[in-house]
Amino acid sequence: MDKYSDYKIDNSTPEEKKKHVKEMFDSIAPTYDFLNRFLSFGIDRLWRRRLIRLCGDLQGMPVLDLCCGTGDLTHEFLKSGAGVVSLDFSLGMLKEGVKRGWLGDMNLSADAARIPVKDGSFPIETIAFGIRNIPDIDVFLRDAHRVLSVGGRLFILELTRPEKPVVKLFYNIYLKWVLPFMGGVFSGRREAYAYLSRTIETFLEPNELMNRVRESGFSGVERIKLTFGVASIYVCSKDR
Ligand SMILES: C[S@@+](CC[C@H](N)C(=O)[O-])C[C@H]1O[C@@H](n2cnc3c(N)ncnc32)[C@H](O)[C@@H]1O
Repeated sequence: MDKYSDYKIDNSTPEEKKKHVKEMFDSIAPTYDFLNRFLSFGIDRLWRRRLIRLCGDLQGMPVLDLCCGTGDLTHEFLKSGAGVVSLDFSLGMLKEGVKRGWLGDMNLSADAARIPVKDGSFPIETIAFGIRNIPDIDVFLRDAHRVLSVGGRLFILELTRPEKPVVKLFYNIYLKWVLPFMGGVFSGRREAYAYLSRTIETFLEPNELMNRVRESGFSGVERIKLTFGVASIYVCSKDR
């Protein structure tokens, strides 16, 4: 376990941690998608599709997919007819996505907390399994709010900790032992998968995240629990 494994908010000096996260994703990029599917039993795909359905009619809709990785979610949006700009700071992940044909033509290599796009440009923004890697979370939320057009929504899809004791027990065993072990076997980077499970364990409680969303200027936020609360979609709206 390294010093970056626990999630800690750092709105003023996040650079060192971000460099570490970027290098980590570069290193696991070739095996990321296979392991994602395998380790989530394919459920991650159903969660992304649920998010897509929440967006309504997407034909011709401009969408900004933040922390897009290899483009799993971007790909679903493109199939629904949306015009997607995809952003990630890991060139390794972006290159894998291009190779797979999951990303479209508009890809940005940039920090999600400093989006190089003008104010009010997108009615839909998404971040899937990305926010718990961002230490300067308040800077990120304010920038995501800035880029959203009035009437628009930011969808945050993230892994959460289940509350029911039985589910919690199995989930903890899975997070502590199964995920780092299997991730290590297939990617050769056990520490990267230990990092992933540790960030799930230590990320903000849903209520704290929702408070920060409101404090960043969003008019409202609603949480939709998925699969016994193992994941959640936060729908953040900008009404004015
Ligand atoms: C767990 S992956 C999720 C990828 C994809 N959204 C998905 O659904 O599979 C997290 C991604 O966030 C990216 N990321 C983390 N912090 C970032 C930041 N500050 N700015 C841009 N990308 C970031 C990583 O490079 C990685 O590709």
